Amino acid sequence: MARCSAAVAASFVVSTLLLIWSCWHIHTSSGAPWAISGSHTSLYVRSLEASVDMPLDADVFQVPPGFNAPQQVHITQGDYFGKAVIVSWITPYEVESPNVYYGTDKENYSLTAMAELTTTYTAYNYTSGFIHHCTLDNLEYNTTYYYKLGEGNVMREFSFTTPPECGPDMPYTFGLIGDLGQTADSNATVEHYVQSKGQTVLLVGDCSYADKYPFYDNNRWDTWGRFIERSAAYQPWLWTPGNHDIESGPTFGEFNEFKSYMHRLQTPYMASQSTSPLWYAIQRGPAYIISLSSYSSFVTYSPQYQWLKAELLKVDRTKTPWLIVMMHVPLYNSNCHHYLEGEAMRSVFEAWFVEYKVDIVFAGHVHAYERSHPVSNVLFNLTNDACQPIFNEDAPTYVVIGDGGNVEGLAVPYMEPQPEYSAFREASFGHGLLDIMNRTHALFSWHRNQDGLSVVADSAWLNNQYWKSSSRMQI
Ligand SMILES: *[C@@H]1O[C@H](CO)[C@@H](O)[C@H](O)[C@H]1NC(C)=O
Ligand SMILES: *[C@@H]1O[C@H](CO)[C@@H](O)[C@H](O)[C@H]1NC(C)=O
Ligand SMILES: *[C@@H]1O[C@H](CO)[C@@H](O)[C@H](O)[C@H]1NC(C)=O
Ligand SMILES: *[C@@H]1O[C@H](CO)[C@@H](O)[C@H](O)[C@H]1NC(C)=O
Ligand SMILES: *[C@@H]1O[C@H](CO)[C@@H](O)[C@H](O)[C@H]1NC(C)=O
Ligand SMILES: *[C@@H]1O[C@H](CO)[C@@H](O)[C@H](O)[C@H]1NC(C)=O
Repeated sequence: MARCSAAVAASFVVSTLLLIWSCWHIHTSSGAPWAISGSHTSLYVRSLEASVDMPLDADVFQVPPGFNAPQQVHITQGDYFGKAVIVSWITPYEVESPNVYYGTDKENYSLTAMAELTTTYTAYNYTSGFIHHCTLDNLEYNTTYYYKLGEGNVMREFSFTTPPECGPDMPYTFGLIGDLGQTADSNATVEHYVQSKGQTVLLVGDCSYADKYPFYDNNRWDTWGRFIERSAAYQPWLWTPGNHDIESGPTFGEFNEFKSYMHRLQTPYMASQSTSPLWYAIQRGPAYIISLSSYSSFVTYSPQYQWLKAELLKVDRTKTPWLIVMMHVPLYNSNCHHYLEGEAMRSVFEAWFVEYKVDIVFAGHVHAYERSHPVSNVLFNLTNDACQPIFNEDAPTYVVIGDGGNVEGLAVPYMEPQPEYSAFREASFGHGLLDIMNRTHALFSWHRNQDGLSVVADSAWLNNQYWKSSSRMQI
């Protein structure tokens, strides 16, 4: 099922031989059942261009014309089921109008909503503009809305389409982006994504990388906000916190964590009874999406632990068959970077992921791409010493997609030999698409930046973990 394509014919031949060899090798050495589809390390080697942030005067950072014009416009889901959208934007100098004018007819913006929150913050010697968050609720499903921000000659117009009502056979395509940053590679990732059929972005943490600058120069959050607008103003981006979003700087008097992240990026966390914007769940079309915080406590009895335990009980797979989890630090990763860093969370949550038959777990953090076979490692206890991942039909597929293109560059090398749980891995920048067809089938694909827009560098069909059982198919 794993597919591979190499950049040039010669390396394709070599990689095919490697694939055959690795299948044979795993099959004969361990007889592990997932050896049938093989484990593969791509031999594609991308050019080693320098990974630097785009300059402050880059075209994608342009401030929209006109005094105090709304900028950094982005939207996210605003409720539990997809009938609300939170519109966020920044006016640099004045509050101006806190209104969003919207409607289903481009000529007739019949509805008005007022921002429920306008805020500013300081970070070292940086002072933010006025950050507005406005919820548009009671929207119709599967409907295109047009919306306008600002007044008079600085008015700007955008649009978005609401998802279909939650239901088992609603096709829907999610985009996966991680560790994005703001380099030319980030720009290529966003550009390729914009041209894809993705309808909602799941961003698995690490946004602007402003923390790479002295005193975490938050002007780089503003450039980032303007950079992603060409996608994020038109479709929801769902946020997950990453380590570069923490921005705690006690040496220069910054004691708050996630200050910029939480002021700028909204999540509808209260709709799922979460006590923190850093972890939450939503339902959207055929999917139930759970976003976790790798950087908040998850030990037994912590708020995040208690919340997830209760949230998993609410999932109704007859309504939302696809159960998706996202987080920043991967639970399975065979890159030398951040190797085994997710073990603490894995030991707490993995058994639930298996018990509740999570379909797919997306993570970032590692600046490369990797897809696992369905594996679990939940048998270990102090007496049995059973600490190797094993093939497990009920276990999720784990995808590392921290390859958005940030200033830190790609993560190499990989652990050798490739662990048997790893199906495909490659250190290149790109994005992923989860194309949900119906209750039983979804196609996950990974698109590497160096290829043409439509080229798929890796893909796998996912058989829904709940509906694949033949007894359920007869219902
Ligand atoms: C970013 O990508 C867009 C779309 O390809 C392009 O028009 C723009 O010039 C790029 N900007 C930079 C700074 O690379
Ligand atoms: C604008 O939309 C509102 C509400 O849908 C409707 O009542 C009104 O007639 C529309 N106006 C025009 C000029 O189409
Ligand atoms: C903030 O501090 C940095 C470093 O000292 C300096 O370069 C920058 O000009 C200051 N910015 C403002 C707005 O004062
Ligand atoms: C969504 O709307 C489009 C066109 O308005 C229609 O063709 C499609 O069937 C609708 N989908 C759902 C799931 O209702
Ligand atoms: C440890 O694992 C073994 C084998 O799965 C099991 O029989 C035993 O009950 C476990 N011990 C504890 C303390 O959970
Ligand atoms: C679900 O989609 C897959 C892939 O397109 C297709 O083969 C299968 O027949 C579909 N199943 C149903 C029940 O429609």
